[in-house]
Amino acid sequence: MAVLVAAGAGFWVWHEQPSFCNAVCHEPMDAYVEGYYNDSSQMAYTHRAVGTTCLQCHEPKLDEQIGEALVWLRGDFAMAADGRLATVGVRSDAKMCTGAGCHEFDEVVAATENWGGETGVNPHDSHQGYALDCSSCHTAHGQSFMYCNTCHDYEVPKGWAAPVRSEPAGDVA
Ligand code: HEC
Ligand code: HEC
Ligand code: HEC
Repeated sequence: MAVLVAAGAGFWVWHEQPSFCNAVCHEPMDAYVEGYYNDSSQMAYTHRAVGTTCLQCHEPKLDEQIGEALVWLRGDFAMAADGRLATVGVRSDAKMCTGAGCHEFDEVVAATENWGGETGVNPHDSHQGYALDCSSCHTAHGQSFMYCNTCHDYEVPKGWAAPVRSEPAGDVA
């Protein structure tokens, strides 16, 4: 702690860098940093390409960071086979993604109107909600998921997972 405090402003500058995240916490952070730099299928990578840092999405809150540090020190987390955390606590929502300088949600809605050429279909504005939590479909560090298709059979973007359609919803288009 004394060292960190002595480092002062320098520490906060370092803390802003993606390399900070896995400098100490190799596990679980390596896979996230690796994908951010090298896996072009990931949304995190696409964001890096336009200059978005880890902390612009993961707004640092002191209490959460202390909590994370304690969990890490205890080794109290489980890893999945792909090197990422087995249990994901973070979700992306309008608050994370539509802040100043980020996505203008009206434009996002306009971009997916009449999705797949079907009139009135819009993943961003439907009976499931306007600005439904982005994580219902978009995944930052992995494969995105066409949530609507748990019941419908809409066009699935290239590279996304299509859920297996569940039958009980009835015969919907
Ligand atoms: C575009 C926004 C964005 C960027 C940039 C980003 N993340 Fe994430 N991160 C997310 C979202 C959203 C999740 C929730 C799971 C998912 O979508 O993959 C997440 C999940 C995580 C998790 C799992 C957390 C938990 O509690 O389960 C870790 C660890 C993580 N990110 C680390 C990083 C690191 C390290 C970087 C930079 C190298 C980074 N992220 C860059 C949005 C982002
Ligand atoms: C029900 C699923 C779903 C949800 C929930 C969702 N999206 Fe999307 N989003 C999509 C699909 C499908 C696309 C089209 C992707 C493609 O064409 O590759 C898309 C595309 C986008 C794009 C690119 C638009 C463009 O200009 O081409 C942005 C930005 C975006 N979404 C942001 C968001 C944000 C922010 C949220 C949360 C507030 C969100 N999305 C929630 C399904 C969803
Ligand atoms: C849990 C199941 C379920 C999910 C998930 C779901 N829907 Fe639906 N949706 C339905 C049902 C049931 C109807 C009513 C079908 C009917 O009346 O024929 C419906 C109707 C619709 C309609 C009107 C279609 C019509 O022909 O009348 C649209 C458009 C639609 N959904 C879009 C979406 C979009 C976009 C998503 C993803 C954000 C979504 N739905 C997610 C079950 C679902």
